[in-house]
Amino acid sequence: MSLYAVEVEDLHLRIKGVEILRGVTLRVRRNTLFVLMGPSGSGKSTFLRTLNRLIDFVDGVELSGLVKVLGQDIYSVDPYDLRRRVVLVSQEPNPFPHMTIYDNVALPARLNKIVRTKRELDDLVRWALEKVMLWEEVKDRLKSYPHALSGGQRQRLCLARALAAKPEILLLDEPTANIDPVNTIKIEESLKSLRDEVTVIMVTHMPHQAVRVADHVALLHSGVIVEEGPAMEVFMSPKKEVTNEFLRGAL
Ligand SMILES: Nc1ncnc2c1ncn2[C@@H]1O[C@H](COP(=O)(O)OP(=O)(O)O)[C@@H](O)[C@H]1O
Ligand SMILES: [Mg+2]
Repeated sequence: MSLYAVEVEDLHLRIKGVEILRGVTLRVRRNTLFVLMGPSGSGKSTFLRTLNRLIDFVDGVELSGLVKVLGQDIYSVDPYDLRRRVVLVSQEPNPFPHMTIYDNVALPARLNKIVRTKRELDDLVRWALEKVMLWEEVKDRLKSYPHALSGGQRQRLCLARALAAKPEILLLDEPTANIDPVNTIKIEESLKSLRDEVTVIMVTHMPHQAVRVADHVALLHSGVIVEEGPAMEVFMSPKKEVTNEFLRGAL
């Protein structure tokens, strides 16, 4: 098994002729909490959506270079299978509004046949909700609908749904951008507790968040990785002036 969850070499990506990623080379070790930082517009979401081939749904994409995920070239594997193993949680909480809280979390396990019995499904749903610290808040209303939850609770529900799919890589695109500080801390704490089970790649434009959670960080700027390394090294003594500026909040 490859030591790396993700290995990207000289990735260039154009959308309708405009180059968004301009030679990205990056490796992410398994079972780390990797934070990809960068100012708005630097290409973070585009990069994340490339990793599980959600980028395939965007018109006019041209791509060159090598993208290996879980040891295999992403264009040599079945995209549906890839998206089962590499799950993305987006910035906007998007639970299925017509499904109960329970069914939202249970859905991927049902689709992927992860469990065999109702008892196992109940256990998995509870496990996922506990992981995101939502169980105590919803255990008495699993049959109600997500609209009854706050935005931060809905985002944690989406995170629980992603975990219940038992992914090998969890991609998080600014998961706390639109939610309050208490829910943000709960999400960050649950991510830290997941290291042993899953590789987490989180995108953020907030240096403070990266400082709080990351094992390893990279800075993406104008479609290029300008610096990467163990989080403490990068935060304590950034090698590039642009990293310094980003960490000071000047970008
Ligand atoms: N579907 C698209 N069509 C055209 N341009 C796009 C599309 N998606 C992203 N871009 C452009 O790519 C650049 C990077 O976007 P994005 O990956 O969303 O950056 P970030 O997530 O770092 O804010 C931006 O200039 C954006 O306008
Ligand atoms: Mg983005």
